[in-house]
Amino acid sequence: MMAWKTLDQMEIAGKKVLTRVDINVPVEDGTVTDTTRIDRIVPTIEAIKAKGGIPILLAHFGRPKGKVVPEMSLRITLPALEEAFGQTVKFADGNYADAVAQLETGDILLLENVRFAPGEEKNDPEFAARLATLGDVYCNDAFSAAHRAHASTEALAKLLPACAGRLMAEELGALEAALGSPNRPVGAVVGGAKVSTKLDLLNNLVEKLDVLIIGGGMANTFLLAKGASLGGSLVEADLTDTAREIMAKAKTTGCRIILPVDGLVAREFKEGAAAEVIALNADTTLEADQMVLDAGPESVHAVLAEFSGLKTLIWNGPLGAFEIPPFDTATVAAAKIAAELTADKRLVSVAGGGDTVAALNQADAADGFTYISTAGGAFLEWMEGKTLPGVAALDQQ
Ligand code: 3PG
Repeated sequence: MMAWKTLDQMEIAGKKVLTRVDINVPVEDGTVTDTTRIDRIVPTIEAIKAKGGIPILLAHFGRPKGKVVPEMSLRITLPALEEAFGQTVKFADGNYADAVAQLETGDILLLENVRFAPGEEKNDPEFAARLATLGDVYCNDAFSAAHRAHASTEALAKLLPACAGRLMAEELGALEAALGSPNRPVGAVVGGAKVSTKLDLLNNLVEKLDVLIIGGGMANTFLLAKGASLGGSLVEADLTDTAREIMAKAKTTGCRIILPVDGLVAREFKEGAAAEVIALNADTTLEADQMVLDAGPESVHAVLAEFSGLKTLIWNGPLGAFEIPPFDTATVAAAKIAAELTADKRLVSVAGGGDTVAALNQADAADGFTYISTAGGAFLEWMEGKTLPGVAALDQQ
């Protein structure tokens, strides 16, 4: 069990709080297009200020690989930060010590993209030591960057009194409730294109879950392993043995794997393409240009029946090629039911990772989930059972 400190346990009045946040947000034409990650750090910034501390924000943006890349300047996030915090945010892109020396109670300072420095991604102790001179206390509120062992997420935590911010604590609490000690039965939807990106996840989940619902292109590979011939569908033929191993392991751990029993099949992947429902099983043989692009109605029915028997649901990845209708049908239907069961207090539902939040937003269901993680890769790694360096470093105190 992790024993990290929360902000409430820290003495920060009059202190400068180096606060690692994840404001790696989507930007188009110079404007932040989704402020979710910014909005979610507001409680931490407010708590630091309310306790009399001065937040100094440390963050990355993109992957500049240790070089100054002007298009990856965090300056671009300033209007969105100021809007969210309701105040001016100071910015420093050099001479950090001077900028810090001028801070007064009530200020918020954002430092330039920490990944412009070569020492950041190398987790360089000297770079971390230089960062440490800028503050008195370290607060990590960037769960979504906690899978990176970088100077601002890992080494720095060991150099100053350290704590988890509000969002970090909330994320860890929600994930612990979903997978650490969940109310059973506990199930997961794992979808998305490829088994290869989620091997560790599937292997860990079959050890912990009662039900694993596999969807999206990943399900095709499992069906292929069972003997189906799926035409032009996305499959990873080299992973059929792996799929069989996962199914065999699930039998020994008592985790039921649910695969689609029918699919929405089309010959073109484009909006409104003609599609037909075809049964999916070991004997299915599709024509060369036919593709399974979504789960069919019987499968959705089966998924919904599974949901109603669960107390805890973890959701990662869509059930079909949800970006293009009508292939979002299964994802939308299942997400809406999960949100309804959650509203009825019959289900604790936690979602995160990659495309997941976009898919749930498309279903207008994201608000109905108990918890939506801000993390992509970090959510997956946590679900894979891996130790996240940014979280482990908080435990050293
Ligand atoms: C994310 O967007 O998932 C985090 O900010 C981590 O970014 P990274 O994958 O570039 O480390």
